[in-house]
Amino acid sequence: MVNNIVNIPQDTKTVDVLEIINTFQTTRYQGSKRKILPWLYDCTKDLNFETVLDAFGGSGMVSCLFKHMGKKVTYNDIFKFNKIIGESTIENNNVLLTEDDIKHILEPKNAKFSFISNTFKDIYYLNDENNWLDMAIYNIESLSDIYKGKELRFKKAIAYNALFQACMAKRPYNLFHRKNLNMRIRNVKRNFGNKSTWDKPFPVHFVNFVNEINKSIYDSGKKCRTICSDVFSIKQTNYDAVYLDPPYIKRKGERNETADYLGCYHFLEGIANYSSWPQIIESDSPNKRIQKSYAPNYFTGSDASELFERLIKKFRKSVIILSYKYGGDPTIDDLSKIILKYKTQLKVYDRHYKYALNKKNRDETINREYLIIGY
Ligand SMILES: C[S@@+](CC[C@H](N)C(=O)[O-])C[C@H]1O[C@@H](n2cnc3c(N)ncnc32)[C@H](O)[C@@H]1O
Repeated sequence: MVNNIVNIPQDTKTVDVLEIINTFQTTRYQGSKRKILPWLYDCTKDLNFETVLDAFGGSGMVSCLFKHMGKKVTYNDIFKFNKIIGESTIENNNVLLTEDDIKHILEPKNAKFSFISNTFKDIYYLNDENNWLDMAIYNIESLSDIYKGKELRFKKAIAYNALFQACMAKRPYNLFHRKNLNMRIRNVKRNFGNKSTWDKPFPVHFVNFVNEINKSIYDSGKKCRTICSDVFSIKQTNYDAVYLDPPYIKRKGERNETADYLGCYHFLEGIANYSSWPQIIESDSPNKRIQKSYAPNYFTGSDASELFERLIKKFRKSVIILSYKYGGDPTIDDLSKIILKYKTQLKVYDRHYKYALNKKNRDETINREYLIIGY
């Protein structure tokens, strides 16, 4: 049965929006805006736009908010695994993964897939977990024995979204940037609760996430779509508004490995390209990452101001809604100046934000999230 969710009426108070946002699936994706969606709603609810491009879509949470606000959303991300996440909840309006589908995916079969068990031994997961992943992927692919067309695409998207979330939940730091399975299995005294999440079996995580995703699916009555492109290659630039949440570039000299989204999530991108994974993997890397040439990474801090200027110029016809974090390169002042070259008005909102895994979280002067709107 399709969910009975309604669009957020125009004049809804932020506190009431929270209730709707609580129905969105959870995620451990780095940089996800899920926690600050009520604030984003508050800052954007009075802006006049119908079509919107979420250019760095990631976990899809902001697209989900815009969809609920009745906008025609185009979700984009450079990675295929993220696009699949967007397909499951942004593009999809009414297809759910049923109990029978879940049974089909979880039922041990004579799986013919073994790439993960052969390639990733002792890197991210235990042997039986690697075997389970190969089997689950085989079973998700074989949904094509039962469904076809759009229904098949959306059922697979829900299943892969749940699988990706489960993969993140079971990883130290929720990332794949290092070969560090030993962090999980070392017999040491721990004072945090992640160990039980890491050790929770894959099928349990998977079913929990499918239930969450199923609950987020609804029809807003407006056409929403997903694309998978490097932001600078997107052809259409006549959206009423463009939401920009690019990887965070730290000031020169600071370590910046988390801005490398391919380095952090190559394993999920590999699952999304399972049959061509052997061709794109860097076999002699310690953590078996995907070759850097697979996707451009501009967000490395070489010339950040020039990069942002290119971005803003590209979308100068649209209202620019830019998420930013204190301490990045360029500075908020520099960014504002760049935006004012192409836009006549600027609004800057900021708030304290507790970032995951950040030791300086209580410092309200450093940990600030910005929303810069140029129109
Ligand atoms: C900070 S995250 C966005 C988080 C998102 N707003 C959310 O709520 O989950 C940045 C995203 O940009 C994507 N990305 C990186 N380089 C890109 C590029 N050149 N073109 C498009 N997307 C890119 C990454 O895959 C990542 O998902």
